[in-house]
Amino acid sequence: MEKRELLYSGKAKSVFTTDNPDLMVLEFRNDTSAFDGKKMEQLDRKGLVNNKFNAFIMTKLSEAGIPTHFEKLLSDTDALVKRLDMIELECVVRNVAAGSLVRRLGVEEGIDLNPPTFELFLKNDALGDPMVNEYHARSFGWADDATLDKMKELTFKVNTVLKQLFLDGDMLLVDYKLEFGIFNGEVVLGDEFSPDGCRLWDKNTREKLDKDRFRQGLGGVVEAYEEVGRRIGVEF
Ligand code: TMP
Ligand code: ASP
Repeated sequence: MEKRELLYSGKAKSVFTTDNPDLMVLEFRNDTSAFDGKKMEQLDRKGLVNNKFNAFIMTKLSEAGIPTHFEKLLSDTDALVKRLDMIELECVVRNVAAGSLVRRLGVEEGIDLNPPTFELFLKNDALGDPMVNEYHARSFGWADDATLDKMKELTFKVNTVLKQLFLDGDMLLVDYKLEFGIFNGEVVLGDEFSPDGCRLWDKNTREKLDKDRFRQGLGGVVEAYEEVGRRIGVEF
Protein backbone atom coordinates (compact mmCIF):
# COMPACT_ATOMS: atom_id res chain seq x y z
CA MET A 1 0.00 0.00 0.00
CA GLU A 2 1.51 3.30 -1.16
CA LYS A 3 1.50 6.55 0.80
CA ARG A 4 -0.31 9.28 -1.10
CA GLU A 5 -0.98 12.62 0.59
CA LEU A 6 0.10 13.81 4.00
CA LEU A 7 -3.15 14.11 5.95
CA TYR A 8 -1.81 15.23 9.28
CA SER A 9 1.52 15.62 11.03
CA GLY A 10 1.49 15.15 14.79
CA LYS A 11 4.33 15.58 17.28
CA ALA A 12 5.78 12.11 16.77
CA LYS A 13 3.83 10.55 13.89
CA SER A 14 2.60 11.53 10.45
CA VAL A 15 -0.52 10.20 8.80
CA PHE A 16 -0.89 9.60 5.05
CA THR A 17 -3.82 8.67 2.84
CA THR A 18 -3.68 5.56 0.65
CA ASP A 19 -5.63 4.44 -2.42
CA ASN A 20 -8.15 2.88 -0.05
CA PRO A 21 -10.29 5.53 1.71
CA ASP A 22 -10.67 3.21 4.73
CA LEU A 23 -6.92 2.80 5.27
CA MET A 24 -4.05 5.14 6.19
CA VAL A 25 -0.32 4.89 6.73
CA LEU A 26 1.07 5.88 10.14
CA GLU A 27 4.69 6.93 10.00
CA PHE A 28 6.56 6.82 13.32
CA ARG A 29 9.19 9.56 13.31
CA ASN A 30 12.20 10.00 15.59
CA ASP A 31 10.71 13.23 16.96
CA THR A 32 10.08 13.05 20.68
CA SER A 33 8.02 15.59 22.53
CA ALA A 34 6.98 16.24 26.09
CA PHE A 35 5.12 18.87 28.07
CA ASP A 36 2.64 19.47 25.23
CA GLY A 37 5.39 19.98 22.70
CA LYS A 38 7.48 22.40 24.80
CA LYS A 39 10.40 19.92 24.88
CA MET A 40 11.26 18.43 21.48
CA GLU A 41 14.20 16.29 20.31
CA GLN A 42 15.05 13.75 17.65
CA LEU A 43 16.10 10.42 19.09
CA ASP A 44 17.89 8.00 16.78
CA ARG A 45 15.90 4.78 16.04
CA LYS A 46 12.87 5.84 18.08
CA GLY A 47 10.52 5.72 15.07
CA LEU A 48 11.53 2.15 14.27
CA VAL A 49 11.40 1.02 17.89
CA ASN A 50 7.95 2.50 18.56
CA ASN A 51 6.53 1.23 15.26
CA LYS A 52 7.57 -2.37 16.02
CA PHE A 53 6.63 -2.08 19.68
CA ASN A 54 3.19 -0.77 18.76
CA ALA A 55 2.63 -3.51 16.16
CA PHE A 56 3.45 -6.17 18.77
CA ILE A 57 1.12 -4.69 21.40
CA MET A 58 -1.76 -4.03 18.99
CA THR A 59 -1.53 -7.63 17.78
CA LYS A 60 -1.67 -8.93 21.37
CA LEU A 61 -4.69 -6.72 22.12
CA SER A 62 -6.45 -7.82 18.97
CA GLU A 63 -5.85 -11.49 19.90
CA ALA A 64 -7.48 -10.69 23.26
CA GLY A 65 -10.62 -9.48 21.47
CA ILE A 66 -9.98 -5.71 21.58
CA PRO A 67 -10.79 -4.02 18.24
CA THR A 68 -7.79 -1.98 17.02
CA HIS A 69 -7.00 0.07 13.94
CA PHE A 70 -3.76 -1.85 13.28
CA GLU A 71 -3.63 -3.80 10.00
CA LYS A 72 0.04 -4.61 9.34
CA LEU A 73 3.62 -3.39 9.38
CA LEU A 74 4.69 -1.83 6.07
CA SER A 75 8.33 -0.99 6.84
CA ASP A 76 10.63 -0.20 9.76
CA THR A 77 8.78 3.04 10.44
CA ASP A 78 5.39 2.66 8.70
CA ALA A 79 2.23 0.78 9.61
CA LEU A 80 -1.06 0.37 7.77
CA VAL A 81 -4.09 1.26 9.91
CA LYS A 82 -7.82 1.74 9.54
CA ARG A 83 -8.95 5.33 9.11
CA LEU A 84 -10.97 6.10 12.24
CA ASP A 85 -13.05 9.11 13.06
CA MET A 86 -11.05 10.05 16.16
CA ILE A 87 -12.61 10.95 19.50
CA GLU A 88 -10.66 13.92 20.88
CA LEU A 89 -10.33 12.44 24.37
CA GLU A 90 -7.47 10.57 26.03
CA CYS A 91 -8.31 7.68 28.35
CA VAL A 92 -5.81 7.18 31.18
CA VAL A 93 -5.72 4.27 33.61
CA ARG A 94 -3.34 4.31 36.58
CA ASN A 95 -2.24 1.29 38.59
CA VAL A 96 0.42 3.19 40.54
CA ALA A 97 0.51 6.90 41.41
CA ALA A 98 2.91 8.97 39.25
CA GLY A 99 3.05 12.03 37.00
CA SER A 100 0.21 14.54 37.02
CA LEU A 101 -1.77 12.60 39.64
CA VAL A 102 1.07 13.08 42.13
CA ARG A 103 1.30 16.79 41.31
CA ARG A 104 -2.46 17.33 41.38
CA LEU A 105 -3.29 15.47 44.59
CA GLY A 106 0.00 15.72 46.46
CA VAL A 107 0.17 11.95 46.95
CA GLU A 108 3.39 9.99 47.09
CA GLU A 109 4.79 8.60 43.82
CA GLY A 110 4.70 4.82 43.79
CA ILE A 111 1.64 4.05 45.90
CA ASP A 112 -0.55 1.26 44.53
CA LEU A 113 -3.96 2.32 43.26
CA ASN A 114 -6.42 -0.42 43.97
CA PRO A 115 -8.80 -0.29 42.21
CA PRO A 116 -7.02 1.49 39.34
CA THR A 117 -8.22 5.00 38.41
CA PHE A 118 -9.75 6.09 35.10
CA GLU A 119 -9.37 9.67 33.85
CA LEU A 120 -10.30 11.56 30.70
CA PHE A 121 -8.21 14.35 29.18
CA LEU A 122 -9.17 16.65 26.34
CA LYS A 123 -6.68 16.40 23.46
CA ASN A 124 -5.71 20.04 23.19
CA ASP A 125 -2.06 21.11 23.45
CA ALA A 126 -2.90 24.83 23.59
CA LEU A 127 -4.89 24.17 26.77
CA GLY A 128 -2.32 21.68 28.11
CA ASP A 129 -4.63 18.63 27.72
CA PRO A 130 -6.95 19.53 30.62
CA MET A 131 -8.64 16.78 32.62
CA VAL A 132 -12.37 16.57 31.90
CA ASN A 133 -15.14 14.28 33.07
CA GLU A 134 -17.92 12.34 31.41
CA TYR A 135 -20.41 15.17 31.88
CA HIS A 136 -18.15 17.52 29.90
CA ALA A 137 -17.82 14.86 27.20
CA ARG A 138 -21.60 14.52 26.91
CA SER A 139 -22.46 18.24 27.16
CA PHE A 140 -19.91 19.27 24.53
CA GLY A 141 -20.77 16.31 22.31
CA TRP A 142 -17.25 14.79 22.37
CA ALA A 143 -18.69 11.34 23.14
CA ASP A 144 -22.11 9.96 24.03
CA ASP A 145 -22.97 7.57 26.87
CA ALA A 146 -22.60 4.36 24.88
CA THR A 147 -19.24 5.49 23.45
CA LEU A 148 -17.92 6.51 26.88
CA ASP A 149 -18.99 3.16 28.36
CA LYS A 150 -17.27 1.29 25.54
CA MET A 151 -14.07 3.36 25.80
CA LYS A 152 -13.92 2.69 29.53
CA GLU A 153 -14.64 -1.02 29.13
CA LEU A 154 -11.93 -1.41 26.46
CA THR A 155 -9.41 0.70 28.40
CA PHE A 156 -9.78 -1.57 31.45
CA LYS A 157 -9.63 -4.69 29.28
CA VAL A 158 -6.31 -3.41 27.91
CA ASN A 159 -5.16 -3.10 31.52
CA THR A 160 -5.89 -6.76 32.25
CA VAL A 161 -4.00 -7.92 29.16
CA LEU A 162 -0.99 -5.58 29.38
CA LYS A 163 -0.45 -5.57 33.16
CA GLN A 164 0.20 -9.32 32.94
CA LEU A 165 2.26 -9.07 29.74
CA PHE A 166 4.64 -6.55 31.34
CA LEU A 167 4.65 -8.37 34.68
CA ASP A 168 5.89 -11.47 32.84
CA GLY A 169 8.85 -9.27 31.81
CA ASP A 170 9.37 -8.11 35.43
CA MET A 171 7.84 -4.68 34.83
CA LEU A 172 5.02 -2.69 36.38
CA LEU A 173 2.54 -1.00 34.07
CA VAL A 174 2.21 2.19 36.14
CA ASP A 175 -0.19 4.08 33.84
CA TYR A 176 -1.02 4.53 30.16
CA LYS A 177 -3.01 6.66 27.74
CA LEU A 178 -5.26 5.34 24.97
CA GLU A 179 -7.12 7.06 22.15
CA PHE A 180 -10.16 5.68 20.38
CA GLY A 181 -12.08 6.40 17.21
CA ILE A 182 -15.13 5.19 15.35
CA PHE A 183 -14.94 2.81 12.40
CA ASN A 184 -18.22 1.63 10.81
CA GLY A 185 -20.07 2.65 13.98
CA GLU A 186 -17.75 0.65 16.27
CA VAL A 187 -15.42 2.04 18.97
CA VAL A 188 -11.90 1.01 17.93
CA LEU A 189 -8.50 1.54 19.59
CA GLY A 190 -6.38 3.98 17.57
CA ASP A 191 -3.16 5.97 17.89
CA GLU A 192 -0.35 3.88 19.41
CA PHE A 193 0.74 1.97 22.45
CA SER A 194 4.44 2.47 23.12
CA PRO A 195 6.67 3.66 25.99
CA ASP A 196 5.93 7.20 24.72
CA GLY A 197 2.40 6.99 26.14
CA CYS A 198 2.72 4.86 29.25
CA ARG A 199 4.86 4.46 32.34
CA LEU A 200 6.77 1.24 32.90
CA TRP A 201 9.02 0.56 35.88
CA ASP A 202 11.34 -2.35 36.53
CA LYS A 203 9.44 -4.39 39.11
CA ASN A 204 12.41 -4.90 41.40
CA THR A 205 14.46 -1.69 41.11
CA ARG A 206 11.57 0.62 40.06
CA GLU A 207 13.87 2.07 37.40
CA LYS A 208 11.88 4.13 34.87
CA LEU A 209 11.89 2.56 31.39
CA ASP A 210 9.52 4.95 29.57
CA LYS A 211 9.23 8.54 28.33
CA ASP A 212 9.84 9.89 31.83
CA ARG A 213 13.53 9.25 30.97
CA PHE A 214 13.13 11.94 28.29
CA ARG A 215 10.91 14.26 30.37
CA GLN A 216 13.34 14.11 33.29
CA GLY A 217 16.55 14.16 31.19
CA LEU A 218 17.71 10.76 32.48
CA GLY A 219 19.17 9.65 29.11
CA GLY A 220 19.08 6.19 27.54
CA VAL A 221 15.55 6.75 26.28
CA VAL A 222 15.49 4.54 23.18
CA GLU A 223 17.74 1.98 24.90
CA ALA A 224 15.13 1.66 27.67
CA TYR A 225 12.29 1.27 25.11
CA GLU A 226 14.27 -1.52 23.41
CA GLU A 227 14.93 -3.20 26.74
CA VAL A 228 11.19 -3.19 27.49
CA GLY A 229 10.51 -4.62 24.03
CA ARG A 230 13.12 -7.36 24.42
CA ARG A 231 11.66 -8.40 27.77
CA ILE A 232 8.21 -8.97 26.25
CA GLY A 233 9.40 -10.55 22.99
CA VAL A 234 9.35 -7.70 20.44
CA GLU A 235 11.80 -8.24 17.56
CA PHE A 236 13.40 -5.00 16.36
P1 TMP B 1 0.08 12.16 33.29
O1 TMP B 1 0.61 11.57 34.56
O2 TMP B 1 0.97 13.20 32.68
O3 TMP B 1 -1.35 12.62 33.42
O4 TMP B 1 0.04 10.98 32.21
C1 TMP B 1 -0.54 9.74 32.49
C2 TMP B 1 -0.12 8.74 31.44
O5 TMP B 1 -0.69 9.07 30.18
C3 TMP B 1 1.39 8.70 31.20
O6 TMP B 1 1.76 7.36 30.94
C4 TMP B 1 1.60 9.55 29.97
C5 TMP B 1 0.31 9.39 29.22
N1 TMP B 1 -0.10 10.61 28.51
C6 TMP B 1 0.34 10.81 27.22
O7 TMP B 1 1.05 9.98 26.65
N2 TMP B 1 -0.04 11.94 26.57
C7 TMP B 1 -0.85 12.87 27.13
O8 TMP B 1 -1.16 13.87 26.49
C8 TMP B 1 -1.32 12.64 28.49
C9 TMP B 1 -2.20 13.64 29.16
C10 TMP B 1 -0.90 11.51 29.12
N1 ASP C 1 2.63 13.59 24.66
C1 ASP C 1 2.54 14.92 25.21
C2 ASP C 1 3.58 15.84 24.56
O1 ASP C 1 4.23 15.51 23.64
C3 ASP C 1 2.62 14.91 26.70
C4 ASP C 1 3.88 14.31 27.30
O2 ASP C 1 4.24 13.21 26.94
O3 ASP C 1 4.49 14.93 28.19
O4 ASP C 1 3.76 16.95 24.92
